[in-house]
Amino acid sequence: MAEELFRKSFSILSCNFDKAGENTTEIKALLKSLDFNPDIIRRVVVVAFEAEMNVVMYANRGRMDFVITDEEIRIDITDEGPGIPDIKQAMQEGYSTATDEMREMGFGFGMGLPNIKKHSDFLEIKSDVGKGTTVMAGIRLVPDA
Ligand SMILES: Nc1ncnc2c1ncn2[C@@H]1O[C@H](COP(=O)(O)OP(=O)(O)O)[C@@H](O)[C@H]1O
Ligand SMILES: [Mg+2]
Repeated sequence: MAEELFRKSFSILSCNFDKAGENTTEIKALLKSLDFNPDIIRRVVVVAFEAEMNVVMYANRGRMDFVITDEEIRIDITDEGPGIPDIKQAMQEGYSTATDEMREMGFGFGMGLPNIKKHSDFLEIKSDVGKGTTVMAGIRLVPDA
């Protein structure tokens, strides 16, 4: 059984582009202060930022549970929002329903979910259309047993 070493929950507000990424910045600083390997930190940052941005861009509100155990780092994000009707399609590189306004701000390249997949060791996405989405991602800290 993995031992939980650290846990923090963050709330994420929809459309909060100004503050978007602050939670990820806090997580990055924490991992640096704990002397995590830079490659692990980079992967966690990509996963947390992209998942957080998707709540900011597409959902009404959400929360991120950030957990460090002796075996892995987990980033679980749950939102209340429209949900994702076709997860397989959403996972494809370049697929995006971002508005022109979001694209002008530099978001909406359709690489968020593919990059979450690429940078995590496991990923589970569940979505209920009209209710919301849960993204559970993990990065392993120890080699497979
Ligand atoms: N939390 C979410 N709630 C609703 N739809 C989402 C959510 N996350 C992703 N999506 C949908 O999946 C698409 C692809 O997401 P992503 O790969 O992050 O690309 P991008 O954010 O650049 O559009 C989004 O354009 C959106 O339609
Ligand atoms: Mg995205």
